[in-house]
Amino acid sequence: MQEKPTLEVCLTPQLYAKRNTIGDEHLAVVIDVLRATSTLSAMASRLTQPIKIEQNLDKLQALKAQGYKIVSEREGCTTDFADYANDPILFLDNQVDTDAHFAFSSTNGGNALYIAAADAREVVLGAFLNWDAVVNYVKNRNLDTVIMCSGFKGNFSLEDTLFAGALCDKIINESDFSLLSDSTVAALTIWQSLQKNYVKSIQQSEHYHRLQKLGMGESAFQCLFANKINTVAQFKDGYCSPIK
Ligand code: MLT
Repeated sequence: MQEKPTLEVCLTPQLYAKRNTIGDEHLAVVIDVLRATSTLSAMASRLTQPIKIEQNLDKLQALKAQGYKIVSEREGCTTDFADYANDPILFLDNQVDTDAHFAFSSTNGGNALYIAAADAREVVLGAFLNWDAVVNYVKNRNLDTVIMCSGFKGNFSLEDTLFAGALCDKIINESDFSLLSDSTVAALTIWQSLQKNYVKSIQQSEHYHRLQKLGMGESAFQCLFANKINTVAQFKDGYCSPIK
């Protein structure tokens, strides 16, 4: 009898190295609800060119000099030389040149993508904005799957954990995965107890407050809508692009 694929949540990128999932043949789903994977999923759904992910700010500036449009932040503040904030609304509302080449950098989400990619067969991006599309993708791939929360500078984040639990909830209800590790059960339990008020719960999170103070409250709020995007972005060789 064939064994069921496993589903595991890592609550921070730092805990990825300690995962129970064996080997490096799994699918990794990277989550940074506020806001990297929300923005990148929106970008990939609208732009015609792959998005370069560059975490080194000097290299990012060099890309700007080459003509790239820059989307970049550190700790929620838009980088001074960026052309655009880390904000999904700009892309969902088509406020940008969709044929331009873009480069992206962010405090946590950008790093998490590289950490996942170093050790996984395939890396995709998840957010409430493309929740069902990610669930369907995971179900169809039917691989051992690790959901990695980006957190904030190595710490737990409520919004990523809630969404990790939300993904697990739908995946195990709609297909046959077995849950690995206590962190997976914890994420699922937190989601199941807060799901009816998940927006209000996330509005009490540290990073939501941080973004509100920076005048980015509306941007954060827009990241909490479910299923505005029906595509899934993948991260491969330093670039994000939609899976066709
Ligand atoms: C991150 O990668 O840490 C976030 O996207 C920060 C932000 O909200 O801009």
